[in-house]
Amino acid sequence: MDKLIIHGGNPLHGEVQISGAKNAAQPLMTAALLAPGTSSFANIPNLRDIDTMLALLKHLGVTVSRENGTLHLSADNIRADDAPYDLVRTMRASVLVMGPLVGRLRHAKVSLPGGCAIGARPINLHLKALEQMGCTITLHDGYVEVDGTHLQGAHVVFDGVTVTGTENIMMAAVLAPGTTILDHAAREPEVVDLANFLTRMGANIKGAGTDRIEIQGVASLTPASYEVMPDRIEAGTFMIAAAITSGDITLRSCPIDALTLFTAKLREAGAIIDIDANKVRVRGPRRSKAVSITTAPQPGFATDLQAQFMALMTIAEGTSTITETIFENRFMHVPELHRLGANITIDGSLAIVRGIPQLTGAPVMATDLRASASLVLAGLAAHGTTELRRIYHLDRGYEAMEQKLKRLGANIERVRDKPS
Ligand code: EPU
Repeated sequence: MDKLIIHGGNPLHGEVQISGAKNAAQPLMTAALLAPGTSSFANIPNLRDIDTMLALLKHLGVTVSRENGTLHLSADNIRADDAPYDLVRTMRASVLVMGPLVGRLRHAKVSLPGGCAIGARPINLHLKALEQMGCTITLHDGYVEVDGTHLQGAHVVFDGVTVTGTENIMMAAVLAPGTTILDHAAREPEVVDLANFLTRMGANIKGAGTDRIEIQGVASLTPASYEVMPDRIEAGTFMIAAAITSGDITLRSCPIDALTLFTAKLREAGAIIDIDANKVRVRGPRRSKAVSITTAPQPGFATDLQAQFMALMTIAEGTSTITETIFENRFMHVPELHRLGANITIDGSLAIVRGIPQLTGAPVMATDLRASASLVLAGLAAHGTTELRRIYHLDRGYEAMEQKLKRLGANIERVRDKPS
């Protein structure tokens, strides 16, 4: 197992290239299941979660090849229709094969994902929507089995906003006879990226990016080529890296339009942000100001940037509140930030952060993907040495993070940790 050793205190300077978005790439890859033939994707990030998704697609019969950074997925022969427990338990996004399998084969068997570090994360909304579309759902032996023999378009009103739920149902609906209307749909940019790809495949989708998506089912789709959108969460994390180290970072391929509220909040905290085409320059203040945030589905403040923003607030001037409304257990980074000296009090879904002038390095433990990023950021700003263990979480969702940080002037090393 690897760990990161960070000697904090260097202001970060220079340019960084933002990678393709994990949360866009995963549904795009499963969408390749919808049509026989080869779909191709550029800008797929090199991440553990992408490898897990490739293992799942291979299990289903997809042939995988890579050429000059482009990923080719050939879905001529789908020989299995199940997502086994071993893959789903390591990566919840495995449930994203359910919609395409039901669309293409009218049948899917997916292991029910168990709980997760950040919350219970059930898939009841995915299943309710499929039932409304004429599918029969049975649960047995830890698996959910979907019989889509009578799959048809329907008017689905989601009880709550769900990103992968919206994506799954969109992918079933594109091959369902009739019209499907999804109300209270997720508006995340990754949903729009998927809709754009499905449209290239021949699907008929209107309204992606709004809370009402209308899909006219078609009889068949054809494979297509697509370039995955850049990762807004990675971009936001590097923007905070500039702010928290009082640095000056220019981001290339930054999806700034997907970060409107985040950008406003970072400016409020004192960062100077210049936007020029798809380059974004962020200059951090000498010391940030306290700014309160509440997470919410798009266009609200992304829950996937909450932990990183909290790291910034730990050394801001004044007191901020951070309210997490999406996941019930997404403050796991707080006890670790305490170890660096942060002053944070939690009351249910509310964290009160009293800014201190300086964090101090300490050994800490990563608990989930975004919590890891928050601890890296805190370590970059802290006085002294921070050792971050369990960075396999980080490797799930950040491409070459420490190499990118090193090029920006961070003093950060990945070393082998002795087994604990
Ligand atoms: N929910 C239900 N029932 C459902 C589905 C969701 O109660 O059937 C609840 C969840 O428990 C949660 C809320 O609804 O409280 C929102 O969950 P959502 O379904 O939107 O989350 P997700 O689709 O499982 C995606 C991202 C997450 C990101 C969330 C919220 C992917 C692969 N994952 O998860 O990304 O936090 O949307 O924006 O797209 C990450 O990248 O670190 C990450 C966790």
